[in-house]
Amino acid sequence: MRASVGTLMHAWRSVALVMLLAAVHGGASAQGDAKRGAYLTKAAGCVGCHTEAKKDATPYAGGRALKTSFGTFYGPNITPHPSAGLGRWSEADFVRALRLGLRPDGAHYFPAFPYPSFTRINDADLRDLWAHLRTLPASARPSQAHDLKFPFGWRFLVVGWKWLFFSPGPYSADQKQTPVLQRGAYLVEALGHCGECHTSRNFLGGPKRDRPLAGAAKGPEGDRVPNLTPAKLKKWNDAELKSFLQTGLTPEGDVAAETMGEVIRNTTGELTPDDLVAMIGYLRALPPIADEPDAK
Ligand code: HEC
Ligand code: HEC
Repeated sequence: MRASVGTLMHAWRSVALVMLLAAVHGGASAQGDAKRGAYLTKAAGCVGCHTEAKKDATPYAGGRALKTSFGTFYGPNITPHPSAGLGRWSEADFVRALRLGLRPDGAHYFPAFPYPSFTRINDADLRDLWAHLRTLPASARPSQAHDLKFPFGWRFLVVGWKWLFFSPGPYSADQKQTPVLQRGAYLVEALGHCGECHTSRNFLGGPKRDRPLAGAAKGPEGDRVPNLTPAKLKKWNDAELKSFLQTGLTPEGDVAAETMGEVIRNTTGELTPDDLVAMIGYLRALPPIADEPDAK
């Protein structure tokens, strides 16, 4: 009897030890890779919206004004500063923000933060993004309040918007496609959030689901945003398109307008050659959709 209790105790201790080791080991292996995360911030263009548009601004310390028809949003400070930034956040808080558009206190983010696209980012990439953000120097620059027109400043209205237009969940690859096209889809739809500007919106600011990436007569800055489906983009060959996405120069020698110029500087111009090829391959494979008629 005594022996069996002793054996049981011993067995229990071994189990406990194994569980403890598994937890510690699991924690260690679940650590994101900050270096991969740095590349992912580029593929997602995080820096633009979270850095003031002035010389020598601290990257990710917030203050970038984003003018929209609902008012002006200011990208917040997302450096690890304990009070001004995300210093007190857990990885789970970060995942919830990007996947579900929820603040740690449960309030809803405005979709000017492109979480309707970022929700498609997979778990491993979210962890790596978070690991990279943790390595940034903390900045004490306070985040600014948004300056929104009545009644768009009411966060609870976002609940209705999300109900209508937001479908959370990571990107699920179309297994019938080649790995290159799957990668291209992920880069365009999840990280690159190209549709945030290249898909037109209805009067509630919801993307028109029947016109994905087919351009908008009136984009974020009020100008036309071009159609990325083959209906229009066939005017350029792959080399021309690649050169545009790297340099912002068109085959005609024109320079991309600043809205896209920034995307090229921060995002497409920073992609690896393989990723750029994958992105172009995906755009080429989109169903062609004709331009939207000009807005009145
Ligand atoms: C198009 C502009 C834009 C891009 C690109 C963008 N963000 Fe943001 N982000 C915002 C805005 C605006 C908010 C504030 C939303 C609100 O207050 O409801 C925000 C909020 C956040 C928050 C919540 C901060 C807080 O204090 O609650 C996090 C975290 C965040 N962004 C991380 C990221 C990461 C990581 C990326 C890249 C993967 C990224 N953002 C790309 C505009 C952007
Ligand atoms: C912040 C808004 C915004 C985002 C995000 C954005 N674009 Fe653009 N894009 C524009 C605007 C505006 C233009 C028009 C530029 C001009 O007229 O010079 C443009 C032009 C282009 C063009 C040139 C098309 C043509 O027919 O002239 C391509 C190609 C393109 N974008 C690809 C992309 C890809 C790929 C992504 C995602 C990685 C992306 N864009 C993300 C706003 C955006």
